[in-house]
Amino acid sequence: MKGIILAGGKGTRLYPMTTVVPKSILPIYDKPMIYYPLSILLLASIQDILIISSPEHLPLFQNMLGDGSKIGVRFSYKVQDNPRGIADAFVVGADFIGDDSVCLILGDNIFFGSSMTTILQKAINENNGATVFGYPVKDAHSFGVVEFDKDRNVISLEEKPKNPKSNYAVPGLYFYDNHVVDIAKSIKPSERGELEITAINNAYLQMGKLRVIPFERGVAWLDTGTPEGMLKAAEFVETVQDRQGFYLSCIEEIAWRRGFISTEQLQTLGEELKMTDYGQYLLALAKGGSK
Ligand code: DAU
Repeated sequence: MKGIILAGGKGTRLYPMTTVVPKSILPIYDKPMIYYPLSILLLASIQDILIISSPEHLPLFQNMLGDGSKIGVRFSYKVQDNPRGIADAFVVGADFIGDDSVCLILGDNIFFGSSMTTILQKAINENNGATVFGYPVKDAHSFGVVEFDKDRNVISLEEKPKNPKSNYAVPGLYFYDNHVVDIAKSIKPSERGELEITAINNAYLQMGKLRVIPFERGVAWLDTGTPEGMLKAAEFVETVQDRQGFYLSCIEEIAWRRGFISTEQLQTLGEELKMTDYGQYLLALAKGGSK
């Protein structure tokens, strides 16, 4: 399975923070935002990862993340010349996907929960077409929204409905078989002029091949769409890290625990950052040795 992180767009809702810097490079507490979605792909054991961003921002991601070899993965990069919509990721990424299945995660989506690994494995192992998630929110109108019947079958999916039919938003984490490339090439822009990810999900729903897994209690899907959301997300990360001593979405740690890099490589990465708590954390993990 291949992985794609979509980290383009203009970030206009966060101006002036994002007038020069892309949203996904802004920090959430102690690490760039993109580390959080990246860590989800690593947790899912995905090692072939395409990062898509705008022409002006893509070089920044390349400078920051390199070819991935430091953490035992392969990063590819591709420009999206215009923010044509989330589904455009599969058109831009068609060559990268090749004949594989693919997981797409949005560069501003942050998930945390002890059951994440199990949820991801289940999504991958049991995928028969498309697998997406449902997350209860207080006000769903600014998201993709999924409506279930009483037996939890999916009845409808709508993008940013004025009157949401449920309070289940669809987060920016999607698993698809290889048909997604053809589907993405065939859908038409919506009224707001975007190739909607919801149109892809509706195509799978019509084929009877869409699965929506409701997230259980205890999984946090954090909002980064506003300065307030970013601050709350940062506070959440700080609180959990400070209390438990475990880092959230530490990409080097996950790569090591997944066996992508050795303890010696982890040690080297820790040395490079040893002037920071983050580096000291990596060094302590390497010293402890056991996973
Ligand atoms: O966060 C989950 C929601 O993400 C879903 O519930 C919605 O169904 C989905 O449409 C999307 O809604 P947003 O309004 O949050 O999408 P936004 O336009 O903010 O884009 C999300 C990220 O994807 C953002 O970091 C920018 C990036 N992006 C977006 C578009 C449209 C791109 O890189 N290229 C694009 O063409």
